[in-house]
Amino acid sequence: MKRFIEQLPKAELHLHIEGTLEPDFLLEKAKKHRIQLPFHSIAEIQHAYNFSNLQSFLDIYYQGMAVLKDEDDFAELAWRYFQKAHAQGVLHAEIFFDPQAHIERGITISTVLDGLCKAVERAKKELQLSVFLIPCFLRHLSEDSALDTFAQCLKFKQVITGFGLDSSEVGNPPSKFQKVFTQAKQQGFRITAHAGEEGPPSFIEDSLDLLQAERIDHGVRCLEDEKLIKRLVREKIPLTVCPLSNLKLKVVNHLQEHPLKRMLDCGIIASINSDDPAYFGGYIADNFDACATALNLTNKDSALAAKNSFIGSFLDANTKAAYLAKLKSYCDNNEVELG
Ligand code: HPA
Ligand code: ZN
Repeated sequence: MKRFIEQLPKAELHLHIEGTLEPDFLLEKAKKHRIQLPFHSIAEIQHAYNFSNLQSFLDIYYQGMAVLKDEDDFAELAWRYFQKAHAQGVLHAEIFFDPQAHIERGITISTVLDGLCKAVERAKKELQLSVFLIPCFLRHLSEDSALDTFAQCLKFKQVITGFGLDSSEVGNPPSKFQKVFTQAKQQGFRITAHAGEEGPPSFIEDSLDLLQAERIDHGVRCLEDEKLIKRLVREKIPLTVCPLSNLKLKVVNHLQEHPLKRMLDCGIIASINSDDPAYFGGYIADNFDACATALNLTNKDSALAAKNSFIGSFLDANTKAAYLAKLKSYCDNNEVELG
């Protein structure tokens, strides 16, 4: 990997902590909790990670989570991710988790959040990494389930930055979740939503208009709608793009066809993120690196994606400015122009 990319100061804005469950950790936790898995070796697991679309991935992703049972499991999972992110230049991470996928299995939100918060505190102290937590509602479940989950999350308001929307996009439009996001907004939470990954460009617009989303996760299908592109640029809506995820889930057939470079060139605030790195073959800098190779990104392009990651974050203006100054001085030292 290019040294410039690995040490480039960046924020990760699209990362599902359950998607960092590496095969060795999965086997270790299955043994600890005496859980029978359909796989018996790392090779068998890796073989199963061949996906044809989003749903084929989600089926395996929800199955894998069954090994996460106690506070220590969540703390260890997050700590492992924070160390990897830190080693790949991440200064700030806004991480998703799926409370409903755990509640359904009898694991309380308190178990999940106590574990995650333990790791967040350690990351702050030992790695100087700042972390925000964003629970996502599962769009294949009902809005009543999301409302119930939201009510449970309110008890932990002080450690939650915002809410997101993930899982099966096609057939589950943003309009299904208007009520719960209205409540989240009223309570002062930040809002983001997956849209335009497999779903149509209209889901991006509806996420902005009906859910009051401030940024969009994926959003790659925006390029099908010229008017929408203009709106995203004009309204400075950040998109958290995940190139290796898009490749693995066949949103694009080849990385060379990925729209990231076109998005950057037309002025969209696109950042590069890893989504579910244990399943998609790479963490954040691996995504930067793969794009640099496949799309002929210059260091200036990579630096712009890093700049977009801080701009698109939910950090306050002063902290954002401090991170951007760090990025600027890194670019100056490497004689790379920061666009
Ligand atoms: N899309 C939708 N739901 C998800 C994803 C994704 O990329 N990753 C984890 N849950
Ligand atoms: Zn995602």
